Amino acid sequence: MSESAQIAAFENVPGAGDVRIHAVDKTYPGRSGSVTALKDVNVSVKGGEFVSILGPSGCGKSTLLRCVAGLDHPSQGSITLGGQPIDAPPLDMGFVFQRDVLLDWLNVINNVLLPCKLKKLPIHQWKPKALALLKLIGLAGFEHRRPWELSGGMRQRVAICRALLLNPTLLLMDEPFGALDAMTRDELNLELQDVWLSNAKTVLFVTHSISEAVFLADRVLVMSRSPGRIVDVIPVDLPRPRTLSVRETPAFTKYVAHIRQLFESFGILRGTNVR
Ligand SMILES: Nc1ncnc2c1ncn2[C@@H]1O[C@H](COP(=O)(O)OP(=O)(O)O)[C@@H](O)[C@H]1O
Ligand SMILES: [Mg+2]
Repeated sequence: MSESAQIAAFENVPGAGDVRIHAVDKTYPGRSGSVTALKDVNVSVKGGEFVSILGPSGCGKSTLLRCVAGLDHPSQGSITLGGQPIDAPPLDMGFVFQRDVLLDWLNVINNVLLPCKLKKLPIHQWKPKALALLKLIGLAGFEHRRPWELSGGMRQRVAICRALLLNPTLLLMDEPFGALDAMTRDELNLELQDVWLSNAKTVLFVTHSISEAVFLADRVLVMSRSPGRIVDVIPVDLPRPRTLSVRETPAFTKYVAHIRQLFESFGILRGTNVR
């Protein structure tokens, strides 16, 4: 395959980003009985849609994301990406974890280019894209720094660029900003929105912050635990691009209040970590 054909192979095609989760159950065996992490989860996500998955600790958010990523498998039901069953991690998927997994012995640009190395793609062809992503996310000029010279927020920006490098159809993010201070988290919410608006791709974004879920999403999937299931799907009809000041508008606070009340009705928001 020619180099340009290899690059084209990673470009999006219509419908390729549709995710369909159908009647998914996930049970883990355990010494003191099995744990049902997910129960009858059904959701269809359109290609290019930004969906937040919101729920308290232990409700199955990471399990759901791992199943979509092909890193784990449902006990029942099916998950498809672009109509194809997911039984192994799809080639055109990016994953960002709560803790960035940067390689300390590589500088920033080489960390971003790592997926090329692993897939044996021509690095020189992808370098301009890597530099453009770093610029878009506010890291121009940091290409030759080592990860240990960066703040937590900067490291997570590098991890996002790396996940986006090969233009994945699907971006999965598991509490990517959970370990950051509030102000850095706000900045990264804005930058993630910019990146998503200029590289429309399907995003499944796990968080336990109600405000973050609403700010970023086209739709919020609200999960409840024991067993983990989706209790509501809330379309967020706020214009884009969104600025932080949208959080002070009546429309935004109405979404947040509605979701908080939903959690309260399930007895969840009494001293748990859902904010
Ligand atoms: N590999 C595993 N083996 C056994 N139980 C697990 C495993 N992964 C998750 N669980 C259990 O499944 C439930 C959901 O976990 P998880 O998906 O990590 O929740 P969340 O990400 O919402 O905090 C929890 O009760 C957890 O203990
Ligand atoms: Mg988790």
